[in-house]
Amino acid sequence: MTSRLRCTINGTPYDLQAHPMTRLLDVIRGLGLTGTKEGCGEGECGACGVLLDGMLVNSCLTPAAHAAGASITTIEGLASGDTLHEVQEAFLEHGGAQCGICTPGMVLAAHELLSRNPEPTEDEIHAALAGNLCRCTGYLRIFEAVLEASRRQ
Ligand code: FES
Ligand code: FES
Repeated sequence: MTSRLRCTINGTPYDLQAHPMTRLLDVIRGLGLTGTKEGCGEGECGACGVLLDGMLVNSCLTPAAHAAGASITTIEGLASGDTLHEVQEAFLEHGGAQCGICTPGMVLAAHELLSRNPEPTEDEIHAALAGNLCRCTGYLRIFEAVLEASRRQ
């Protein structure tokens, strides 16, 4: 059984058909927006993070029904054309990404933090990214990148 799902993703309105319990992750990736990654599939890693009306959510745990009428931002929605978002720039410059699986979720989590707290302390950065796991970088470069992005705002 599917039902109508109208939402906006990265500023584009969509009128979709989906089972209400379909994972938002699958809806998004099914539209070709494959920057949203599946790591654990059970809410533990943050790789599938997207912004739902500005709030960071794990899309692997979010039923499509929760997205009805919502405005969703995925990693594809952050850059402006060829110009990377300042958080993306900082990750690039500080080596905050290696394999890249965690990176979309990390960048969106950092963006969400800086949207509500433009000058976070290191502890606040650690807390804000605590739901995002990275098996490659050891986190230090990621934290540096977020600090740098906060300085540039
Ligand atoms: S894939 Fe969603 S939290 Fe890991
Ligand atoms: S860069 Fe590989 S998991 Fe973070």
